[in-house]
Amino acid sequence: MQFSTKIFPQAEMAHPKQLQSCFAALLAQATDCLVLAYTKADLDVLVSSKGKAGFLGELNQLLAGSVFRAQALGDLDEIAASLCILRAEASWPTASIKAKRVLLVSLGDMKAPGARGLPAYSKVVRAAVKQLGGNSIVSALWFVPSFALGHRSDLIGEEVRLTMQYAGDQAYRFGVRHPALKFKAKDKADTFAKLVFAGNNTCAKELKAAVAEGSAMVEGMNLAKDLGNLPANICTPPYLGKTAQGLAKKVGLKVEVLGRKQIEALKMGSFLSVAQGSDMPPQFIVMRHQGGKAGDAPIVLVGKGITFDTGGISLKPGEAMDEMKYDMCGAASVMGTMYAIAQMHLKKNVIGVIPTCENMPSGQATRPGDIVTSMSGQTIEILNTDAEGRLILCDALTYVERFKPKAVIDVATLTGACIIALGHVHSGVFSDDEGLVDALSKAGHASLDTVWRLPLDAAYQEQLKSNFADIANIGGRPAGSVTAACFLARFTEKYKWAHLDIAGTAWKSGAAKGATGRPVPLLFNFLLEQK
Ligand code: BES
Ligand code: MN
Ligand code: ZN
Repeated sequence: MQFSTKIFPQAEMAHPKQLQSCFAALLAQATDCLVLAYTKADLDVLVSSKGKAGFLGELNQLLAGSVFRAQALGDLDEIAASLCILRAEASWPTASIKAKRVLLVSLGDMKAPGARGLPAYSKVVRAAVKQLGGNSIVSALWFVPSFALGHRSDLIGEEVRLTMQYAGDQAYRFGVRHPALKFKAKDKADTFAKLVFAGNNTCAKELKAAVAEGSAMVEGMNLAKDLGNLPANICTPPYLGKTAQGLAKKVGLKVEVLGRKQIEALKMGSFLSVAQGSDMPPQFIVMRHQGGKAGDAPIVLVGKGITFDTGGISLKPGEAMDEMKYDMCGAASVMGTMYAIAQMHLKKNVIGVIPTCENMPSGQATRPGDIVTSMSGQTIEILNTDAEGRLILCDALTYVERFKPKAVIDVATLTGACIIALGHVHSGVFSDDEGLVDALSKAGHASLDTVWRLPLDAAYQEQLKSNFADIANIGGRPAGSVTAACFLARFTEKYKWAHLDIAGTAWKSGAAKGATGRPVPLLFNFLLEQK
């Protein structure tokens, strides 16, 4: 998907008289579809003026009455998110109109409660983008000021980024990204490929910045989706390492990939105990983006990178086990976010850390009851080898102390219990730091990649007591997501920390099976907003 901007100086909408020249300029563009938004008020004026006045009336005049006819047929609705597609007709003045279609999108009644908020807006945009993607439309021209109409103009950045996020979701095709894995030509064909944001001088600066940010974010999401969707025989720990090194070359991230020997030297006994059942070598990936001053404390992102989770000796049941290829989606979202911020030259210091290995049963594998020593020195009794995410994360969380971080956020498909608690709507967020929870919640709302807070009280630590080691790796069935977070909390006492459980949000199951790219939008927005 290619995104760009085009500024039309004549497209100031403040004066009704300018509307004609504004629409004329837009319609003169060779595009498969010009996308315009209208409100209930615009529709009322169209009707009362019999197609002669107002936003829709001026457009109607240029389109030889098509808009008014559509209204008369009942095709133009005032309900938010209704769509009407006008196709070029012989009656349209073909010399001056090059747009093949005009998609009219209803913003609804702007006076209705909630109509100006981002959630309402997102519904409208999602519907419009879906329409573009479901057609033989390759390129579209999106007239931003009409969408900002009646909205808060200070939201243009968020709105445009959100539009790009949805367009990216709509356009993403696994077969296009990995043509070698599909045979049929139609599965590899890129359809909706180009989205141009049309603006005017008033919004030009904001628009250009938003499109640059949004493009970087969509690229980051696409990378996260690719890594998630690729099967575990392709997306192995070394593959993740090589992908990180590729990004070093491409966008100038500083990347280090440590192998088994170096991980041993660091005494990451917990991480290694998960890796030891697999023939695949573990990797420990560190990616640095130095966009701020040299002395500025970095934000550190840590992602769980289990490229396949069989459960180990505590083997999982067979049903839907293929989906455990997604158990590296935390790592994928960290890599995607690092890629995105490097592309847009974010002026902050950010470090991404990824412990990655497979969780496999074998003669070498860790047994339930085994005791291992983590990098922190705390010993862990592994009562269930399927609670492996926390075992690789805890050593990474100790490792990042050396960066003297401003804050650490770990991202993990950590517990099935989180799906039971929050379903597929919100990711779980756990933290003792109110400021961090607040910032993450806000970033989630702005990108509609939302989180919901779950507790992290000391009271739950009781469940992690072990008779034989400092701590057990499971806390029983009650509050499974909370005890998993509490386990991690034992390794994060030296800095501000939040944990995101993305087990329910990182991918979709069923017919539309596929990675969502979450929580790249959340992390990206969070980092943008950091002071
Ligand atoms: N990767 C899984 C969590 C998971 C399961 C995410 C299903 C998404 C869908 C994790 O490693 C795991 O197996 N957790 C166990 C923990 C339990 C053994 C305490 C779980 O959730 O069942
Ligand atoms: Mn597991
Ligand atoms: Zn797992």
